[in-house]
Amino acid sequence: MKIIIAPSILSADSSRLSEEISAVEKAGAGWIHIDVMDGHFVPNITLGPAIISTLRKTTKLPFDVHLMIENPERYIESFSQAGADIITVHVEAANHLHRTVDIIKKAGKKAGVSLNPATSLTQIEEILPDIDLLLIMSVNPGFGGQQFIKTSLPKIVRAKKMLEALPYKVLLEVDGGVNLKNIGDIAQAGADVIVAGAAVFGSDDYQKTIAALKTAANSQTA
Ligand code: DX5
Ligand code: ZN
Repeated sequence: MKIIIAPSILSADSSRLSEEISAVEKAGAGWIHIDVMDGHFVPNITLGPAIISTLRKTTKLPFDVHLMIENPERYIESFSQAGADIITVHVEAANHLHRTVDIIKKAGKKAGVSLNPATSLTQIEEILPDIDLLLIMSVNPGFGGQQFIKTSLPKIVRAKKMLEALPYKVLLEVDGGVNLKNIGDIAQAGADVIVAGAAVFGSDDYQKTIAALKTAANSQTA
């Protein structure tokens, strides 16, 4: 499968979010990654459903909504109505993860579950049969532009093995610190979807950067 590049708009120019989304769409992005932070689960605050619903008019690309918020079950309906296509919640933030995943699926959306760098893969064993996507954080969530945590690579390999043992496809997404130098290894480790914030929005030419990321990723996975 070809790698999907999901630019994270956390690193985009927030005064021109619609234009930035159109620009990365033109430049070859597969999904738009939207980081929602509540100032509790992570030490940063970003945006909510109202802004997402405004941005929904800009593009038909899937909105990959990464909820870094406590009690995510309370907000699934709002994010779903705002136009999210994939809703990912953190295993560390959802007390009743199965119920939360169920709410996402009943809303007709794809359900993702995410793990912080220090959270073991054993935490998601029981929920795997119910999800569409597993998101491995390769930085501590909260900010863009951080350095990739190296121990994430063997974790991605182990996650891929778990997913390959399932009788159906669960996508593996990697988020945090991805750049042109490490995307090849991340793809080879088994990622299907790769988030890139600073690497894309910090570059001068989105098209060139996304093309280079795809080339570097796909050259390892042919
Ligand atoms: C971090 C977010 C990431 C972040 C990635 O909490 O979940 O999506 O925007 O940004 P980069 O690619 O710059 O590490
Ligand atoms: Zn994210």
